[in-house]
Amino acid sequence: MAAERARGGVGVPLPHDSGHLHVSGEATYIDDIPEARGTLHAAIGIAARAHARIVSMDLAKVRAAPGVVAVIAAADIPGKNDYGPVIADDPIFATSLVQYHGQSLFAVAARTVVEARKASRLAVVNYEELTPLLTAEAAVEAQSFVLPTEHLVRGNPHAAIAAAPHRLRGRLRMGGQDQFYLEGMIAYALPREDGTMLVHSSTQHPGEVQHQVAHALDVPASDVVVECRRMGGGFGGKESQPGLFACIAALLARTTRRPVKLRCDRDDDMIITGKRHDFVTDYDVGFDDDGRIRGVDFVLAGRCGYSADLSGSINDRAMLHSDNCYFLENVSIVSFRCKTNTVSNTAFRGFGGPQGMVGIEQVIDDIARHLGRDPLAVRKVNFYGTTERNVTHYQQTIVDNVIHEIVAELEKSSDYAKRRRELRAFNQTSPVVKRGIALTPVKFGISFTATHLNQAGCLLHVYTDGTMLLNHGGTEMGQGLFIKVAQVVAEELAVDVDRIRITASDTSKVPNASPTAASSGSDMNGKAAQAAAQEIRRRLADFAGSHFGVAPKSVVFRANRVHAGERSVSFNELVKLAYFARVPLSATGFYRTPKIGYDRKTWSGMPFYYFCYGAAVSEVAVDTLTGENRVLRVDIVHDVGKSLNPAVDMGQIEGGFIQGMGWLTMEELWWNDEGKLMTHAPSTYKIPVASDVPPVFNVRIFESDGNAEDSIHRSKAVGEPPLMLGISVLHALRDAIAATAGYALSPQLDAPATPEAILRALEELAARRGEPAPAKVAESIG
Ligand code: MTE
Ligand code: MOS
Repeated sequence: MAAERARGGVGVPLPHDSGHLHVSGEATYIDDIPEARGTLHAAIGIAARAHARIVSMDLAKVRAAPGVVAVIAAADIPGKNDYGPVIADDPIFATSLVQYHGQSLFAVAARTVVEARKASRLAVVNYEELTPLLTAEAAVEAQSFVLPTEHLVRGNPHAAIAAAPHRLRGRLRMGGQDQFYLEGMIAYALPREDGTMLVHSSTQHPGEVQHQVAHALDVPASDVVVECRRMGGGFGGKESQPGLFACIAALLARTTRRPVKLRCDRDDDMIITGKRHDFVTDYDVGFDDDGRIRGVDFVLAGRCGYSADLSGSINDRAMLHSDNCYFLENVSIVSFRCKTNTVSNTAFRGFGGPQGMVGIEQVIDDIARHLGRDPLAVRKVNFYGTTERNVTHYQQTIVDNVIHEIVAELEKSSDYAKRRRELRAFNQTSPVVKRGIALTPVKFGISFTATHLNQAGCLLHVYTDGTMLLNHGGTEMGQGLFIKVAQVVAEELAVDVDRIRITASDTSKVPNASPTAASSGSDMNGKAAQAAAQEIRRRLADFAGSHFGVAPKSVVFRANRVHAGERSVSFNELVKLAYFARVPLSATGFYRTPKIGYDRKTWSGMPFYYFCYGAAVSEVAVDTLTGENRVLRVDIVHDVGKSLNPAVDMGQIEGGFIQGMGWLTMEELWWNDEGKLMTHAPSTYKIPVASDVPPVFNVRIFESDGNAEDSIHRSKAVGEPPLMLGISVLHALRDAIAATAGYALSPQLDAPATPEAILRALEELAARRGEPAPAKVAESIG
């Protein structure tokens, strides 16, 4: 009896709470909500220039098109023509200046989606063309920035580099990435009585959408309710930019006094919304004979696009992750926030961290080749220590370093050393196909770097039949947040998890919630929900104590029952008794992350509550004649502390890895010379699919005593960190390419390492050695 446990507390590998609805098609996404009578459909009219002045815009044909009920542009906005999340530089509709190809100019509401979309193409716009700035390099050249340049210095990097026995310089480019959530951007606005508005928005940040809509409509925030039951994926893309769609739907609803739904098709979604920042990173590094870095200088140029959006924090995070797992005693990092005439880049899983980490990982790889050493050995000599060499370049002491254990475990379980030897022997005898292997580590800081965002709230109701309704400020995008938080509540009250009904994120239930981002959803909402459940339990224990005549402290909750001295009742019975005794059965909970805070002026302090760690070994085969390649085997050990839900966490680790691999190897965004995105559909933009999952994929959760900090049940965040495990694939490809040059030179391989990019790297490497490239040799042989 004593060992009996309620179903589904923390640590239990429960399936996603909506899993049965996802697979049967019954999960309600916004487009599945039954449409209210009179619903209109909206479409956005977008700019066909990257940089231009609008001389005139004639919307007569749009208004006259079949089915059109309303057309609005900037002048029709009663409130603010802006949805910028941090600074006001994101107009809902462009007024006189077009800043990217795809910028919204006006919007149409019509009886049907097709009518709205057709009408949106009929505007006659006269542009006076201006020269567009399209790349990060061009922006640096022109000193065009969305935000001031930042500079972090620690120690004396330039002297250290100059004095070091070896020195290398390099430049690497990494592309952006479209979030490619399966459910595109969508908002459904329903006018309600007395000028109020309900907006269903596919957003990671309902609270921000609420404010954006209120500002656009010029009404108080209390007049707008934003709801989101779930997103069909967000991946950061729905952190700040759903506001555009919600504002337009709400403005049209206000104008027409009818419900309005705005659903982007895939092409428009990709053309209009921001992506991961592409980066150009320059480095200059000095090191010793062991490969230990003496000093390093980074210049990071992140392409932000036309506006600031979240680019400040994203580029900050790139700077803060330019160390990855390595102790950089003397370091300088300059960060340019490049303003270009392209879409405003935004959050994407990792939030700039991956771009910072790819930089230092390439430095390590280049050092290893220069010295003729195993890159893993060079990684290890640079790892942070546990008691010394353990202070980051932003002065945070790392107290939870487990990278040594993780790498040691992975090296053993993946048979890294033996496979590396075998693969090199294979390459000796294989002239065309070359194999490569790489082990790369990850350390990722958890917390929002904007300190005020590290707060969360929860609302928990208990009904008289003992069932519960759980609401918190977090949003569900497939990552499994809702089930994890429900498990926390079930654990606290020792009841079955299935009696907890999980409900939509709703600004009218939990106010001022932060975005579900920075991987901190379960950390923060879990703690807030725990606080609410503890409050309920305290009230029930107090009541049981007085009702049964025992000390409240001695009341025990176990397996759906409550024990008070000799007496025991079911949880349901106790709830009913408490109700009749007029005990309040609804509670809120609140959480703020302790300890953190840092000074951005001096780049010092404690931006992160703790760190997540992991490592991956990837093995690839490259056809050196075509650049075609396969990932043959991947082994991962990843630290999630004490998992709240190992099944969900495994899904995040596997999915994150694949998404990171996709970013660095196959997802290529391509703009033409006029600044028009040409890869705006799955026909031209290749994301990894089920068949890209490596045939051997060994993923293990690192066993430990859990988070060193007092996180929710000692778990760790898992949403973003595994993405960066994908860096191992890029480095395995570099290793395979380097095989063609006897491992003596580092390939100049930019990301994404598509077959074309791999061929270019092979050619460049051969040219550097004064030899023809493998493909050229094959051609001459015929
Ligand atoms: N997993 C799925 N299935 N879908 C998503 O959109 N977003 C990622 C990650 N995992 C995402 C996902 C991103 S960018 C973040 S920040 C976290 O989930 C957010 O959720 P969490 O804080 O609850 O982990
Ligand atoms: Mo995730 S990029 O923090 O939404």
